[in-house]
Amino acid sequence: MKPGIRILSLYDCQLCLTAYFRPEMRVLLPMIITLLTGLALAAPAPPRDLSVNEGRINPIGFHDATPSFSWKLDDPRQGAKQSAYQILVTHTGSEHPETLWDSGKVVSDQSVYVPYSGPALTSRQRIAWRVRYWDQESAESDWSTWSHLELGLLENSDWKGSWIHLPKDDFKAPEELGSPVVHLRKSFSIEQVPEMARLYLTAKGIVDFRINGQLVTPDAFVPGWTDYTQKIETLTYDVGPLLRKGENVLAARISDGWYAGTISKRFYGSMPELLAQLELKSPEGKVLELIATDQSWSYSIDGPITMADIWHGEDYDARKELTGWDLPDYPSADRFKPVSTTPIDPKVRLSPKRFQSTRVIESIKPVTLRKFGEGKVIFDLGQNMVGWIHLQLPARKGQTVTIRMAEMLNDDGTLYRGNYRTARSLANYIPAKDGIADYTQTFTFFGFRYVEISGFDQTAEPSLDWVSGEVLHTDFARTGSFDSSHEKLNKLQSNIVWSQRGNFLDIPTDCPQRNERYGWTGDAQVFTPVSLFNYDTHAFLMSYLESIKQEMKPDGGVPNIIPSNQYRGWVNSAGWGDAAFVIPWELYLRTGDIEVLREFYPMMKKRVGYYTNKAKDGIVDEPKSFGDWLQPKSYGTKPVGTDDRSGETSTRLLTTCYYAYGAKLCAQAAEALGKSDEAAKYKALVDEIKTAASNKFFDNDGRVIEGTATQSAYVLPLAFGLIDGELADKATGHLSEKIEEFGNLLNTGFIGTSVLIPTLEKHGLREQALNILFTSDYPSWFYSIVQGATSIWERWNSYTKKDGFGDDSMNSFNHYAYGAVGGFFYEKLAGLAPSANAPGYSEILVAPILDDRVPLDHAEASLITRYGVASNKWEKSNSAWQMETIIPPNTTGRLTLPFKPEEIHVLKGSADFKASGDGSTASVPAGSYHFKITR
Ligand code: BGC
Repeated sequence: MKPGIRILSLYDCQLCLTAYFRPEMRVLLPMIITLLTGLALAAPAPPRDLSVNEGRINPIGFHDATPSFSWKLDDPRQGAKQSAYQILVTHTGSEHPETLWDSGKVVSDQSVYVPYSGPALTSRQRIAWRVRYWDQESAESDWSTWSHLELGLLENSDWKGSWIHLPKDDFKAPEELGSPVVHLRKSFSIEQVPEMARLYLTAKGIVDFRINGQLVTPDAFVPGWTDYTQKIETLTYDVGPLLRKGENVLAARISDGWYAGTISKRFYGSMPELLAQLELKSPEGKVLELIATDQSWSYSIDGPITMADIWHGEDYDARKELTGWDLPDYPSADRFKPVSTTPIDPKVRLSPKRFQSTRVIESIKPVTLRKFGEGKVIFDLGQNMVGWIHLQLPARKGQTVTIRMAEMLNDDGTLYRGNYRTARSLANYIPAKDGIADYTQTFTFFGFRYVEISGFDQTAEPSLDWVSGEVLHTDFARTGSFDSSHEKLNKLQSNIVWSQRGNFLDIPTDCPQRNERYGWTGDAQVFTPVSLFNYDTHAFLMSYLESIKQEMKPDGGVPNIIPSNQYRGWVNSAGWGDAAFVIPWELYLRTGDIEVLREFYPMMKKRVGYYTNKAKDGIVDEPKSFGDWLQPKSYGTKPVGTDDRSGETSTRLLTTCYYAYGAKLCAQAAEALGKSDEAAKYKALVDEIKTAASNKFFDNDGRVIEGTATQSAYVLPLAFGLIDGELADKATGHLSEKIEEFGNLLNTGFIGTSVLIPTLEKHGLREQALNILFTSDYPSWFYSIVQGATSIWERWNSYTKKDGFGDDSMNSFNHYAYGAVGGFFYEKLAGLAPSANAPGYSEILVAPILDDRVPLDHAEASLITRYGVASNKWEKSNSAWQMETIIPPNTTGRLTLPFKPEEIHVLKGSADFKASGDGSTASVPAGSYHFKITR
């Protein structure tokens, strides 16, 4: 039922009084009261979008035996709020579900991350849960529908089999590329199809799994990339529908992947391995039969994928297809041999994957094709993307079709591939017969926009439907959008989103195409805030943080790449290792999930502790640093570019900025966790660093006296609070001069750029901020768009129409670090931001820059928060602004507008603006608002 009347109106009260004084009405009074009370308590709609932990919906194979519950109120009224809730958790699977935990009515407005507090849950356990709530007028909702959660195998001891793999004698380490894909099979019979069946699955490497010839899951790159020496992720699949009475076949293909492929230089191991467990269960979940990987499985390496590797691509020889190998009645003895086994290592934790797997999310078609002599054709997909190439084209038996790809074209229209460096990045396909070849890769991925095909049937006329691009990334939900009246700004937003999609493939990577594709911590930390606007990356980032924590050194050192594979000892560049405190704080701020801090505050402290141990009088010297990576122009103190990419900003200054920032974030985290003593300690540390740094790095006039006075040398201290008050004001003046010195353009690298625009805006340099953001001159974001970018580039001049390509040895066209600026679009241009007072959008800050200098007529952003959709949209015509704002139920909004209260007319909703500073503010409850501003 939708919300009805909730309060007794004046008319209702009058009716009661009349009735009371008229004796003939007294009999009817109780009835009237009952009727009115019924109206007064009209039920709000039941809660919706129930989720557990980091927004997971009905997960199976879940990792956490102490889950938390969230729900959304379905109530558009102004002021919609929860005053109490009740959660009911039951066992599922039995006919008469027994209550496991009943929270009872809890007077609280908490509707997100409410911890489960019932009896301990165990591996495989399935629960159902539902919730109801009482609104701001104590009207009670109906119960929500039931949601479900099923735990995976939480302990290593739950796994009954062993790892299976090739016997050592049959394994030949490939000299250059990857190994052939290994096929593993096991046949078994059942008398009856069970009511329920689960496949628990993992691999060292990558696995795809079939039962009776049918693919178990569309998940790609299972299980994912972790530090395989400490933790390997496992997945759970419902496979009941795939089983049949009589003979059944379990069939897996495994490939080197991140584990044994060239990307890890075989650091973790030399060949792939499989661990699987099929459980046939009763409806109550009791395990009736269990089939695990053991010596009864058999293998073949004589299949069609003769080589697969993440960097080098795939070679597929269809003539070698093992037709029927994954089906019953296959004469396996002819071609399959017994596997070897290795016991499960108790020191390596087998743990259910805590976030979404990678999947094909979208398929895109080419927009043009161009034929070349020598039987080549190049397709343009119109978008730099990451994933697979699906071919459906005429080909000849035994004649190799080669698929090469590139992110860009040379002037003559051929592929530019120099920037792939040593990554072979191609696929070969040999058809077994004449006709249409239908092929997509499985165990590799590519970063590309253009696809070149050769070796097809030369009698056929190339056609756009020969090729499609299968876009792969972690399957998180799209949550945010930004739009404006500015074409290039919208294109930039789109490029940021595409680079996020291309580089959030199981871990956050620097780039998806060349021989790197690593989890560079610096790139990830600068991009974290905007990533959380575009998609729900909460669970994805929790997993990455766990990986950082696992690889942190005892002294708080952090590898520059996580997972660090063969680069274990390469640690501690400031801005990179500091992902250990930046990401937890940003994640908490933007999700409100206190578990983030409970789990990772110790890591934040340890990282700051690393600096404290190194600091001398509050200053940290960390010469092994990437500095302000890829600063575009020289300030004249040293050349920048190919030989030295770390820019001219003093690494001592840069490192000390991060030290102060880390201490500040630890103070905030301690406060959020209720550890006021620790918060006070970190605040004192911030003050100590500030005093030391202002004396050491600045003169009394606010000039940088440490190393070269770059733009970043001013921006970082201002952004991270190393200086404040009068000194900060003076430094801001010098920063402004530094920007003027470069023609009112930026001259910052990865680190400085990440905070440049918001810092200029915050410190009163709005005009310069807008100029830098909206210019198309070099170096700028729009510059790359004018040169044709469809994603974010690694360098400001990765390609220019005038001078061609930048230096091949570092030239990615899909590198999201500079995309960090996208946070500003949401927070300041559209004006939708989280609040540190009430993280996770429990309070929403709405403060768009409504200023004639902003070259926009309209901007809007919306975001699906854990409470519901929050949005803000403004439009300008002549000198009047209109603004529409949605504050989701059970949250509040704080609106700040640069106008006098009397200039703001509230057309929808009610809001009481009070003068504040140069403008007005109003605190508003949930609801929809429309404002008109006239001056
Ligand atoms: C990566 C960067 C990374 C950098 C470290 C590069 O090779 O592609 O994105 O942050 O190294 O400086």
